[in-house]
Amino acid sequence: MMIKNICCIGAGYVGGPTMAVIAQKCPHIKVTVVDLNEKRISAWNDKDVNNIPIYEPGLSNVVAEARGRNLFFSTEVDKAIDEADMIFISVNTPTKTYGVGKGMAADLKYIELCARQIARVSKTDKIVVEKSTLPVRTAQAIKDILEHTGNGVNFQILSNPEFLAEGTAIEDLFAPDRVLIGGDVTLEGQKAIQALVDIYANWVPKDRILTTNVWSSELSKLTANAFLAQRVSSINALSELCEKTGADVNEVARAIGMDSRIGSKFLKSSVGFGGSCFQKDILNLVYIAKSYGLNEVADYWEQVIIMNDHQKRRFAKNIIKTLYNTVSGKKIAFLGWAFKKDTNDTRESAAIYVADDLLSEQATIAVFDPKVEEDQIQFDLNYLETRSEEANNKGVQVASSAYDACKNAHAIAVLTEWDEFKTYDWQKIYDNMLKPAFVFDGRNILDKQALEKIGFVYQGIGSR
Ligand code: NAD
Ligand code: UGA
Repeated sequence: MMIKNICCIGAGYVGGPTMAVIAQKCPHIKVTVVDLNEKRISAWNDKDVNNIPIYEPGLSNVVAEARGRNLFFSTEVDKAIDEADMIFISVNTPTKTYGVGKGMAADLKYIELCARQIARVSKTDKIVVEKSTLPVRTAQAIKDILEHTGNGVNFQILSNPEFLAEGTAIEDLFAPDRVLIGGDVTLEGQKAIQALVDIYANWVPKDRILTTNVWSSELSKLTANAFLAQRVSSINALSELCEKTGADVNEVARAIGMDSRIGSKFLKSSVGFGGSCFQKDILNLVYIAKSYGLNEVADYWEQVIIMNDHQKRRFAKNIIKTLYNTVSGKKIAFLGWAFKKDTNDTRESAAIYVADDLLSEQATIAVFDPKVEEDQIQFDLNYLETRSEEANNKGVQVASSAYDACKNAHAIAVLTEWDEFKTYDWQKIYDNMLKPAFVFDGRNILDKQALEKIGFVYQGIGSR
């Protein structure tokens, strides 16, 4: 089966970049990315590719090459579904905020709406691909909806989870460690799998394309995120012990990472992991385990989240304690707001929670992030509903440069590991601060010795 026409529902951080890369690598396939959000679609269509809604190194070049040739962004969802042979579902699957499973289970309403829309609109056979991260066995629910249309259309459902990380999405999509495709064991299922394998084979070596049954594929995505997050929580748990004992977490990470069975990646101690997925996906895994009565399994994974919450909270507590047990009326400069460098995404960023704790202690916060806009910062704080919007507005200023943010500050907190922070004129920053001038480096990126030489009181994570 040769795919000529792809539709992707959801033009977000996953749908946008993945489809842009498929379109660039497969000029013979027409790819249409649709979304209900008109503002987002018009930004994807902006004449100036630098205004596309997602900041991701290399993405604007890919979009510039394919857009208008075989890559299209549109709000006409029905039309794109109707025309497609293959439909990717890349909509959001956030944690439920209501009803049964509130605060834990994945909210599948957007997925179900897509399935119902596909069922209603389709007149020809289609392969439906789960690109969103979903609880294991979701394909069954999608299948139930699609198989009850009564219009004689045949559907195959594949699971093809996405493993890209933000900030490196294009690199990850160009050269993925692996592409995972799960499908039915039936002949029809195998043909559908092959159709998707053929698309990726345009640029991904065949030995990196892994095929499994649907359930293994769905569960592998949650498992991969759980393992990755667990590494961060594991090293962060040790960072606190390092601070007490005089061990240095960077040295410990290097020492254990050289064991090839452990590996050196993903062992950077930090103020806590953020991002839209780690927490959501682990909570989802915990909820699934609980729903099968597997309480020990659930508790085991929940600890990864408990540790992460502790890490964010203790970072804020340490700032307060070090600033002589009060930050009331003091100015704290935040360098970084995004959940990691090279992205404008702030979802679940540790910065939000640290700011919230400091605002509750009546601190004033001045934020500088090279890619995050003021509206987003206020939105993130208001979303927590800890205090009134006016109070958040009053407590947080957004600066247009790091130097402005740090001027007359009592302390600086580094929340995101942006490379440019390392290259600043730290003497100039020091000269304009109140003394003693404190730096709390939540990413261990600054040069402790150089800063101490200037006169800063420097504290990293996981060392004295
Ligand atoms: P996102 O919120 O950035 O994008 C989702 C988009 O889907 C939104 O623009 C929304 O308007 C649109 N949408 C929702 N319902 C729709 C509907 N019925 N019709 C049309 N459009 C609709 O989310 P994201 O970060 O791209 O994540 C999408 C999925 O991919 C999630 O399941 C997530 O867990 C998974 N994932 C994300 C990443 C990542 O790095 N962000 C990586 C791997 C997997
Ligand atoms: C993560 C996974 O890495 C992707 O494989 C996956 O596709 C994606 O989630 C998803 O499902 O959404 P992402 O959240 O974009 O990607 O970014 P990561 O690089 O994993 O970083 C997550 C968080 O952990 C960041 O806040 C980062 O700063 C933190 N982190 C990461 C650390 O604190 N230390 C580390 O060593 C690594």
